[in-house]
Amino acid sequence: MPLSIGIHDLALATSQHSLSLTDLADHHGIDPAKFTVGIGQDVMSVLAGDEDIVTMAADATARIIERNGTEGIRTLLFATESGIDQSKSAGVYVHKLVGLPSTVRVVELKQACYSATAALQFAVGLIARDPSQKVLVVASDVARYDLGSSGESTQGAAAAAMLVQADPALLVVENPAGVYTEDVMDFWRPNYRTTALVDGKGSIKAYLNAIGGAWEDYLAQGGASFSDFAAICYHQPFTKMATKAHRHLAVLAGGNPTPAEVAADLDETMRYNRLIGNSYTASVYVALASLLDHHEGDLAGSRIGLASYGSGSVAEFFAAVVQPGYREHLRGAEHAAMIERRTPLDHTAYEVLHKTTLPEDGREYRTSRESVGPFRFAGMMGHQRLYEHA
Ligand code: CAA
Repeated sequence: MPLSIGIHDLALATSQHSLSLTDLADHHGIDPAKFTVGIGQDVMSVLAGDEDIVTMAADATARIIERNGTEGIRTLLFATESGIDQSKSAGVYVHKLVGLPSTVRVVELKQACYSATAALQFAVGLIARDPSQKVLVVASDVARYDLGSSGESTQGAAAAAMLVQADPALLVVENPAGVYTEDVMDFWRPNYRTTALVDGKGSIKAYLNAIGGAWEDYLAQGGASFSDFAAICYHQPFTKMATKAHRHLAVLAGGNPTPAEVAADLDETMRYNRLIGNSYTASVYVALASLLDHHEGDLAGSRIGLASYGSGSVAEFFAAVVQPGYREHLRGAEHAAMIERRTPLDHTAYEVLHKTTLPEDGREYRTSRESVGPFRFAGMMGHQRLYEHA
């Protein structure tokens, strides 16, 4: 019998603050419906000055360890496209903050919003080689665009930590996977910039083209057919994008769903993302948590599709089967509390935070205590980032 490998536990974390997209629309004199209906976003997460991808990642990972311990964990794969260092993996900071043993290897992976899916597949490969091993896959990102740019309404921040192992409690990852790679400049962030550059309309086309390509490859590899999926979780830079992608795949599969049918199909996968915004690498796994946490019936035995896209671009479509008893392992109350506890910012406070950048000359810099999460970014000293337990 083939080995069952997949996601045993999934925990999310997000930021201390949030901004209502209605407030953002008011500030720019735009009809709020453009954001809440046209883009499909209500609120976006905004990091406090003493938070970053490491503090969110450590928050999510610590909760995985609190429940499961560290026994068997040999690898931590950190996926991000908002890296904090050109050399050192952000995962090494997380390794220390959550108290992982030195016998855990750590590496960071990058390919825009896609790399957490690569990490998950690499984790499955490692465990297939030695089923006694477990792998932590941690995706953490902050989506930042220039103030006043069209991308501004699609910002956000979150981390998703997953424990991947044999005989998982939540989902078994299936073979095959469909992949698609094409060199395209739809979204990128040169090393000298703190905000991303994007060809907005081009990025939507590139996303649809790549997801379609991954889907066709999935079918060519002998994958399940569209009607075999109980639900599909998409990468969600904004929730409307998921509805565009779902319709695209439905049409490729010979269907022609109405907008209402598409919205109903995806509703449970979009609830967290509507309130968090884009979380890049974490986004598709935030969608997965949203589905599992919100679905009222029992999904045990159902096949879920995961459609991952990273600009530049790489896409992957794969399937996972929900395991019996999965509901006992969910973290719905925790995730709801995490979203609820955020402090809404007014537009002025949001703009001040957005404009705050770290000194680049290595001089000492201390953040003030703003966040109430378990870990905080304390500042910089001698070009080194400082972290502490709250
Ligand atoms: N009421 C209701 N709907 C309205 C409206 C109103 N008053 N005004 C506009 N709309 C609708 C528009 O019709 C449009 O809907 P459709 O796309 O279904 O036609 C939608 O609101 C957006 O309007 P615009 O296209 O005019 O918006 P825009 O050009 O200002 O910006 C965007 C949209 C290009 C997505 C921009 O937010 C952006 O550049 N975002 C960042 C890039 C991005 O997220 N790309 C997604 C694919 S790439 C990816 O997935 C990787 C990643 O994570 C970045």
